[in-house]
Amino acid sequence: MWKGQAMEGKFIAFEGIDGSGKSTQVRLLSDRLRKEDIPFYATMEPTDSPIGSLIHQIMTGRVKTDNKVIAALFAADRLDHLLNDVNGIVEKINNGMNVIMDRYYFSSYAYQSVDVPMDWVIHANEQSSAILRPTVNIFIDIDPDTALERIAKTRFQKELFEEKSRLALVRQSYIEAFDRLQGVEQVAVVDGNGSTQEVARDVWEIVKSYLI
Ligand code: ADP
Ligand code: TYD
Repeated sequence: MWKGQAMEGKFIAFEGIDGSGKSTQVRLLSDRLRKEDIPFYATMEPTDSPIGSLIHQIMTGRVKTDNKVIAALFAADRLDHLLNDVNGIVEKINNGMNVIMDRYYFSSYAYQSVDVPMDWVIHANEQSSAILRPTVNIFIDIDPDTALERIAKTRFQKELFEEKSRLALVRQSYIEAFDRLQGVEQVAVVDGNGSTQEVARDVWEIVKSYLI
């Protein structure tokens, strides 16, 4: 870094199958960062932009389209999340803000590659990976049965991706994607099967090593 250059913020992306506890951990990490007086911006994908809401309508079955179109929409929503003028992530990071994200491009690699070749999905997201790679991807790894039990307790509406065999496939493709991008991406795996507080403690150990 040359003299006078502003310090960039860190970018932490949470990954995991549905019900792995990502949203819970993003909330607990946010509480912790507030306590530590570390500035951050927490956000998620799919977003609540017009592209994101179209994705939500597809996920809940209100709008139907081909899986290849869904993969392209996720990539488009992601680029908009990075680059839009209102709350684009890239500008925040460049201004020194730390960003915590619930899902980023590894979600596309893992979920969309169940239906579309993984190479295609990785390629479709190359703009995003070239613009902004996470400082670290935190993968909350959990047994799909446990994830499903958690989801069943709280959710009435069964979403597209929430069947058990599908979750097991998605977990496998996460592992395949991490394998493929070994040496390119920073990935930290956290055991998500423990209590909320146990997982939060492991997450904090990782985040601390990058933020403090
Ligand atoms: P995700 O965002 O990955 O889908 P959530 O954080 O929404 O997962 O968690 C799914 C459900 O499981 C929620 O009801 C949440 O309260 C519960 N939960 C999250 N983490 C744990 C945990 N470690 N142990 C038990 N239940 C959990
Ligand atoms: P949502 O209910 O918002 O999140 P979560 O289950 O993590 O609490 O649903 C997001 C769904 O979208 C989830 O099933 C994963 C899926 N998804 C993809 O298939 N590809 C992607 O690129 C992203 C970001 C999400």
